[in-house]
Amino acid sequence: MSRALQVADREKTAERLLNSSAKNSYDPDLDIDWEAPLVDGAYYTPPNRVSLYGTQLWDQLSEEQRIELSKHEVASVASNGIWFEMILMQLLIRHTYSMDPTSRHVQYALTEIADECRHSIMFARAVERLGCPAYGPQRTPHFLGRVLKTIGWGPSMFAGILIAEEILDRIQRESMADESVQPLVRMINRIHVLEEARHVRYAREEIVRGMEGLSKAELAVHRYQAGAMAYYVSRTLINPEVYRAVGIDPKVGRKAALSNPHHQETMKWSAERLVPFVDEVGLLGAPGMRLWRKSFFIGK
Ligand SMILES: [Fe+2]
Ligand SMILES: [Fe+2]
Repeated sequence: MSRALQVADREKTAERLLNSSAKNSYDPDLDIDWEAPLVDGAYYTPPNRVSLYGTQLWDQLSEEQRIELSKHEVASVASNGIWFEMILMQLLIRHTYSMDPTSRHVQYALTEIADECRHSIMFARAVERLGCPAYGPQRTPHFLGRVLKTIGWGPSMFAGILIAEEILDRIQRESMADESVQPLVRMINRIHVLEEARHVRYAREEIVRGMEGLSKAELAVHRYQAGAMAYYVSRTLINPEVYRAVGIDPKVGRKAALSNPHHQETMKWSAERLVPFVDEVGLLGAPGMRLWRKSFFIGK
């Protein structure tokens, strides 16, 4: 059996994750200096990760406007992080609703919900501190998120959780290590990356368990749903309204970003850890492939 498909006993994994949570967790209220001044002239994300980097529109922006756009894109990602987390908190509550609360598996799910609850408050305070709107998702994904959190089930439900977590992990890991990025953003990313590593382990193992014994029809449904989630995660990260902050029409900015090879490459890079895993467990396949391609996570 390959490494990706090896899962430990459910209770043993949960026990290990609970021990790690007890030793290594943050309280953003105390661990972040929310009053610290923002650094003048520092980008909020590495410039080459801004969705318009390398386009004609980018060339027309002043350095100040480019920094401003990086700030609004970080705020968009943070506010959509809250959206993802609100969905997954509800999914985890539903996942464990009828399970034995004395099991380590349920207790870890509750611990993860507590982590996500702190993360959402942290992201909300970050958006507030940056002085940006809480962009959140556009109308269609906002509505579909409501459906998913109400009826999502099985391996594609955990795949939805994993997709959001793996993509954010890759983006935040790079930014936290980049000394030219705003210190506040780096600290937020550091806290998030550290705590999310446990969530990724939990979701991966549940996906592997959930894939066992699926019928052909069930497999098709989960593959399609995983593709749809990949597509919407990719498209919601940057709300087109961010472009307004630097005087660009949201429709024009969105179009330029989607056809920007740098942005497409960033999306592909952000999924480099995710894609081999979903492929190996069998979740990457027809009838979801068109949506995976449109997400840019697997290239065009
Ligand atoms: Fe989180
Ligand atoms: Fe998480």
